[in-house]
Amino acid sequence: MTGTQGTARPATGRTVARRTVVAAAGAVGLGAALVACGSDDSPEAAAGKPADNGGADNGGADDGANGDSGADGQGEVLARTADIPEGGGKVFEAQGVVVTQPAAGQFKAFSSECTHSGCTVGNISNGTITCPCHGSQFDASDGSVKKGPATRPLGAASISVEGDEIKLA
Ligand code: FES
Repeated sequence: MTGTQGTARPATGRTVARRTVVAAAGAVGLGAALVACGSDDSPEAAAGKPADNGGADNGGADDGANGDSGADGQGEVLARTADIPEGGGKVFEAQGVVVTQPAAGQFKAFSSECTHSGCTVGNISNGTITCPCHGSQFDASDGSVKKGPATRPLGAASISVEGDEIKLA
């Protein structure tokens, strides 16, 4: 009887020892997994750099899809004259252009990039182009600043009107 108990005690000790070994091996395994993840991050970070180029490529693809007549968008039909309200206008974000009709039958075009901080201008009404970011206002007939914080006029853009079509020129 006593001999059996004596044998059981060392067995318990061995079991504890085995658990310790397994836990240690698990820790080593985690360490190896972390190292593997760390090394995987670098290629992913490197892969992120070409993503910027991918964005530029998308812009090019858009131009190609819309530009039936040329790669630069020249001759591209932006809108029908009926699409541009008198006294108002319309922003063509993909082309970076805002087209206005300050007076009946008179069409103007400007860069849609606000000269304050580069937002795309938004609402066009009552002869005024307004930037949604900080409230700058521009004259829809010549792009000049009506109200700051912008201090420079909107850049000019070239369009041509052929029949009822407004095209980039
Ligand atoms: Fe247009 Fe500031 S970016 S008002």
